[in-house]
Amino acid sequence: MAADTLARRLRDIVGAGHVLSEPDLREPYEGDWSGRFRGAARAVVRPADTAQVTAVVAACAEHGAPIVPQGGNTGLVGAGVPRGGEVLLSLRRLDAVGDVDAATAQVDAGAGATLAALQSAAAAAGLDAGIDFGARDSATVGGLTAADAGGRRALRHGTMRARVAGLEAVLADGRAIDRRTGVLKDNAGYDLPALLVGSEGTLGVITAVRVQLVPRLPERVVALVGLGDVEEAADLLARLRRDAPSLECADFFLDDGLQLVLDHLRLPAPLEPRAPVYVIVELAGRGDVTEELADALGEAHAVVGIDGTDRDRLWRLRESHTEAIAAAGVAHKLDVGVPLDRLAGFLDAVRETVEEAGARAVLFGHLGDGNVHVNVLGAEGDDVDEAVLRLVAERGGTISAEHGVGVAKARWLSLTRSEAEIAAMRAIKRALDPQNILNPGAVLA
Ligand code: MLT
Ligand code: ZN
Repeated sequence: MAADTLARRLRDIVGAGHVLSEPDLREPYEGDWSGRFRGAARAVVRPADTAQVTAVVAACAEHGAPIVPQGGNTGLVGAGVPRGGEVLLSLRRLDAVGDVDAATAQVDAGAGATLAALQSAAAAAGLDAGIDFGARDSATVGGLTAADAGGRRALRHGTMRARVAGLEAVLADGRAIDRRTGVLKDNAGYDLPALLVGSEGTLGVITAVRVQLVPRLPERVVALVGLGDVEEAADLLARLRRDAPSLECADFFLDDGLQLVLDHLRLPAPLEPRAPVYVIVELAGRGDVTEELADALGEAHAVVGIDGTDRDRLWRLRESHTEAIAAAGVAHKLDVGVPLDRLAGFLDAVRETVEEAGARAVLFGHLGDGNVHVNVLGAEGDDVDEAVLRLVAERGGTISAEHGVGVAKARWLSLTRSEAEIAAMRAIKRALDPQNILNPGAVLA
């Protein structure tokens, strides 16, 4: 009876065509990209604007119906797919990108606008979004903000948090808050947008974001550097930080990961002789940066990409790790952060732990951020996940660097967040969502 009433209310709000109840229509929204997380939604609801989101959340609150917000569904921790029985709230139709405000270099983007659309709007105004990663054509601004996404350019421009000049969100009782004033200095009260960034849909449904853009730096050069070990990679990073002020990205991968990618894409090796460790470096500036790179690299064993095609060819080897791993099986994806001076020992310990469990580890990530993507193939159960996260905790790192906690890691949050911190998080959650209807089970188990 109550279920029927809610379904009718939702149809009245968004139109019957945007409440998907049939299993085959719901199906694309119910599973994540990696194939690891899937659950049946009570219904998929596709509002067109903030007013409709407000009404949908208010109706769900009245019925005590849990909601899972979803953007481009590119997440990797199960935060954006149902666990079973929730209303799946797809924000994809809120995809408008406004005109860039030249004076502030800011733009309003709907939660459903893709990263690629944001990048195009920024480029059309002679600016740059300041954030980039492989899922750019599907990942949405709302999801980026809810997860505090990072990507390869966080080294220079920070994570999504640094790009959020303000946001609009719908709270658990259906009321909207809008902090998109475009005013840089605003310390009147608590910083609610800051609280929502990285909250993974548990404190509010983000409907629009005012994004701070950055200057466009058209002169770019990329180098793929082969190194003997991770210590050499860390030394190279230190040299680049000191001698290359135009440094924008410094990612890494290992030779077995490269081989997986080369086999998957049927490509020849980019560098001979092969090396155990590779760092891919990008410099960007207003003027030519090739000399700056050459000076910083010295005699390094490297291949350099200057024009766009060559740069993309080198980046493809790094960005295709995700796709090559997915082609090899359903991976346990552990996105972690470790202090750089402990990175080498951490990678060795992970490999040993994963191999002891009879599984295979593919390790790559964002060197400059100490951000490692530990991909485990062939693991039975979750024991190996916990063992890897314990290695992170022992080294003073974080169990989640840029993908979020989601449902995948919620039970392990206490490994790297203190009891007092978790108690504060729970108090905030209770205050903003007393019925626990916003993405229950994500972040806080
Ligand atoms: C990446 O850096 O490629 C992404 O975070 C995706 C992944 O870990 O698979
Ligand atoms: Zn990443």
